[in-house]
Amino acid sequence: MIRLPGLIDPHVHVREPGQTHKEDWDSATQAALAGGFTTILAMPNTKPPIFDNSTFELALNAAKEKAHCDYGQYLGAGPHNADLVSSLAPKAAGLKMYLDSTFGELRLDDMTLWMPHFEKYPNDFPIVLHSESRTMAAGILFAALYDRPVHIAHVSLKEEILLIKAAKEEGIKVTCEVCPHHMFLTQPQPPPVLRTPSPKSKGFGGGLGGGHSEVRPRLATQKDVDALWENLDVIDCFATDHAPHTLEEKDSENPPPGFPGLETALPLWLTAVDDRRLTVDDIISKMYLNPKKIFNLPDQPETWIEVDENAEYEIKAANQFTRCGWTPFEGWKVKGRVTRVVLRGREAFKDGKVLAEKGFGRDVRE
Ligand code: NCD
Ligand code: ZN
Repeated sequence: MIRLPGLIDPHVHVREPGQTHKEDWDSATQAALAGGFTTILAMPNTKPPIFDNSTFELALNAAKEKAHCDYGQYLGAGPHNADLVSSLAPKAAGLKMYLDSTFGELRLDDMTLWMPHFEKYPNDFPIVLHSESRTMAAGILFAALYDRPVHIAHVSLKEEILLIKAAKEEGIKVTCEVCPHHMFLTQPQPPPVLRTPSPKSKGFGGGLGGGHSEVRPRLATQKDVDALWENLDVIDCFATDHAPHTLEEKDSENPPPGFPGLETALPLWLTAVDDRRLTVDDIISKMYLNPKKIFNLPDQPETWIEVDENAEYEIKAANQFTRCGWTPFEGWKVKGRVTRVVLRGREAFKDGKVLAEKGFGRDVRE
């Protein structure tokens, strides 16, 4: 058995308000505990998006009533809300800026729309950028021009990780996260080419193909995946970008992008530890120490998770708490299972059961 700190996921799509058939604060936070996370930070691209007082209240009220683990809620940067969101900053996980196309309505196409947010959002609260390739370069230039920290979500390309490395070397205040799917999977070609977490694990295409492989940023090439693994020291956080859509939606004509990830992330990373591609210390820094610091999160006293590092099993959507009903890692053999979670002195998860009740979760900014 190994003991780890309660993990932090800075990138989760909870789907409430508005799309609770995909997920809600109840199911998302149960999935989080089952995955070893005691804190999640929730993205604002809900329906409606979280971008003003009343929508922020909607999300916070639902979270307060239903969350089984601790949480924070992001605000979304829109074209006209820079003053408003900067005044709400102390209560929010951070400000999310969508500089590229994604799922939902929040998108800032024009750089003049970025400026008021960079001018006004307080420096000691995080700005998180959804940016890809050249918009990432523009976002990093903004961090330099306004001399303020930015955190880059879901890095997936070689050119991106090399850019961030160079920016860090120049002293620009940039941090970043990667997600398991960009480290373990490549763009499926017919037939699908998958990167398995270990030579032992016989990954197969059960969870991917067709609409199932749609995700933003897109799955990349082997060259990109290799560059991420070669630059682990540049990567600050392992996030999940848990983005649940139902199986029916993923199989439809117009499949929405996004993968669930809360319950598969730690087992995949632990399998990589077993393969000596990663260390337990990497997991502690990238899933606890660094996100705690970057997002300025409070201590959770008497909080830890217990992991059976020798448990070998197959990932199965049928065993998950997420409401979406599928996983891109279906059938993958992994090694490492969360057996127990203690959150603020309370046994919150044990042997496959969530024990912390609805409403036990606390807002990290209260
Ligand atoms: C996310 C979603 O479904 O909300 N989808 C995704 O593919 N990552 C949106 C996002 O994170 O941009
Ligand atoms: Zn996301």
